[in-house]
Amino acid sequence: MQKKQELYSGKAKSVFATDDNDYVVLSFRDDTSAFDGEKVEQLSRKGEVNNKFNAFIMQYLSDNGIPTHFEKLLNDTESLVKNMQMMPVECVVRNVASGSLVRRLGVEDGMELTPPVFEFFLKNDALHDPMINEYHIETFGWAKSEDINKMKELTFKVNELLKTLFVDAGMILVDYKLEFGLFNGQVYLGDEFSPDGCRLWDAETRKKLDKDRFRQGLGGVIEAYIEVAQRIGVDI
Ligand code: CDP
Repeated sequence: MQKKQELYSGKAKSVFATDDNDYVVLSFRDDTSAFDGEKVEQLSRKGEVNNKFNAFIMQYLSDNGIPTHFEKLLNDTESLVKNMQMMPVECVVRNVASGSLVRRLGVEDGMELTPPVFEFFLKNDALHDPMINEYHIETFGWAKSEDINKMKELTFKVNELLKTLFVDAGMILVDYKLEFGLFNGQVYLGDEFSPDGCRLWDAETRKKLDKDRFRQGLGGVIEAYIEVAQRIGVDI
């Protein structure tokens, strides 16, 4: 498998072509951003930590019946994934109220959500990722009705699998964001799962172990990511 030209560069990852059109290389950089790219810093080792963390989670999800784009780890900061056509929507599940939900609805931070809340957002930094629903997605052609249902179904299945994984390691999965794509017409989980795209709290102390440490300037960002990784058994 030969790595070729860069196809796309996002806020934290870059995508490179390979000599096989069905596969691309995901390259995890140390760049860390928040607030739609307004706050950006380089955090040493973040690319490596997130690449290995993501590989572990994607493998665990695949092993438990979730179709994912992940093929294999290539090196410390790169993974080989399926070359998908991404759907420009973000699927968020919340088990505990925090972040934008608290700001939007004025509910108490830390409130347990039963049943969990599901939200769609449009992936568009210029518009600040507005919240959308199934009607917007179908009407504006961002995904087909059957694929919308599949994304929801898979996002909830992921919730059950990951809640268990993190609870067993002494953490609460507060919320997380997933992105999906199409490969040969089928829906697969894409993008990444790492502490950059979820909220994880220590179950005892409720200490934040995710990107809120960066957003809120709490320090110890990478140390927290490494702690989470080690607790679930990532080789780092
Ligand atoms: O993070 P913020 O408070 O702005 O938004 P949120 O709607 O509370 O985010 C819910 C979850 O999705 C959090 O775990 C975020 O880290 C994640 N998220 C993300 O990874 N990327 C986005 N563009 C928006 C949210």
